Amino acid sequence: MAKPSGSRVALLGFGTVGQAVARILCSGEVPQVQLTHIFNRNVDAKRVDWVPASVRWTDVVEDILASDADIVVELVGGLHPAYEWVRSALLAGKSVVTANKQLMAHYGTELLDLARAQGREVRFEASVAGGIPVLRALQEGLAGDRLVEVRGILNGTCNYILSRMQADAVSFGDALAEAQKAGYAEADPTEDLDGADAAAKLAIIAAVGLRRPVRVTDIATRSIRPIEPVDFEYARQLGCTIRQIARASVEDSGAVFAAVRPALVPLSSGFGQNAGSQNLVTVRGVFGGETSFSGHGAGGSPTAVAVVSDVLSVRRAAGEAAPPSEPTPFHIVSGDFVAPHYVRFTVNDKPGILAQVTAAYARYGINIEGVLQLPKFRKDRLPFVTTLEECSESVLDRALAEVAQSDFHVQAPLSLPIFA
Ligand SMILES: NC(=O)c1ccc[n+]([C@@H]2O[C@H](COP(=O)([O-])OP(=O)(O)OC[C@H]3O[C@@H](n4cnc5c(N)ncnc54)[C@H](OP(=O)(O)O)[C@@H]3O)[C@@H](O)[C@H]2O)c1
Repeated sequence: MAKPSGSRVALLGFGTVGQAVARILCSGEVPQVQLTHIFNRNVDAKRVDWVPASVRWTDVVEDILASDADIVVELVGGLHPAYEWVRSALLAGKSVVTANKQLMAHYGTELLDLARAQGREVRFEASVAGGIPVLRALQEGLAGDRLVEVRGILNGTCNYILSRMQADAVSFGDALAEAQKAGYAEADPTEDLDGADAAAKLAIIAAVGLRRPVRVTDIATRSIRPIEPVDFEYARQLGCTIRQIARASVEDSGAVFAAVRPALVPLSSGFGQNAGSQNLVTVRGVFGGETSFSGHGAGGSPTAVAVVSDVLSVRRAAGEAAPPSEPTPFHIVSGDFVAPHYVRFTVNDKPGILAQVTAAYARYGINIEGVLQLPKFRKDRLPFVTTLEECSESVLDRALAEVAQSDFHVQAPLSLPIFA
């Protein structure tokens, strides 16, 4: 029997995004793409009546691998068995579209090498910033530039929590509980809060935009958990607020930097103005300067649009197998950015504390720019801030480790870079 023209698509995973993709494919808006299979565990519990009767439902993944679908859309999430299934799909001669950032951050270069060898495609637009077509913009729209830096608010959960703390001086715990209630944070929010989610997206952007594949496990991360309402008060004194920033750059020396951190950003900047669960990505090219992209970083429908757009682009791009080549190498990456810093100490006040702090800074060649101390706090739990001229994070960490030996601390010092 002759194969119908157009792409035949099998969905792996019928959850939030999978269902939203199926809705688009069943809407009649993309007649050149035919949904042929839906795979999910306990598939009988997933069946819906708005999917055409021609679509085959299955909970046996081999049915998909053996099918005549041209494109497998992976929307189960997680590393395993998604990795094994995507690999098998490529080996079975299918192209793959995925929204899975962890999969692409950990195995992206390997899967892209395999796809090339198979003459197939792997597309992953939805894995970064959900509904914002940032990867395509970097790969195609800005292909004529050499991008050297990317900064992003890539995690909606952190942005929601930090902008709530900024707006109403709520504690971190209350803001997190609110985010969970509103559906912006998972029951276990560890990956979001501690930076692994943004690091995975940053690794993907570094590979695509900066053309520097790096191991996601090499990207240094710091959590937003130690941020307190008082940090927003002090940040405001400096004309700043606090956001989780994912940042990667390629220096003139060729060195690659990448890190995910809570950081001070100017209130008037795009990052400072970016509130709620919105994402924002700014890239800098040597020729074109700065370009920014913002919008919905998540949500079933915006993410599904990115997935369907990828399906359409695979259709245009599938081609001949490339001759075997060496696996794409990873670049060494450092998280030791040089930046001005904000350091908040919380102390049981007594004479001589500032002298000890400044002496430690001096021993490490760190210059103080200013000292901030709001008058309203209790003496036995006094938060004060030093702002520092540009210094490397590792040098500052060593100085702070030395200061931390003193007995006046009520809690550990908190250091945040200040990104102009
Ligand atoms: N949701 C978003 O806004 C968003 C945005 C950008 C990217 N993404 C990415 O898109 C992917 C899908 O996310 P989602 O929000 O749609 O997740 P989800 O709602 O949890 O859907 C995942 C689906 O896959 C099924 N599944 C999971 N593991 C399976 C297994 N081992 N075998 C068979 N079926 C399995 C689940 O079945 P059960 O129902 O039985 O658990 C569920 O139906 C993830 O990689 C996510 O990171 C999501």
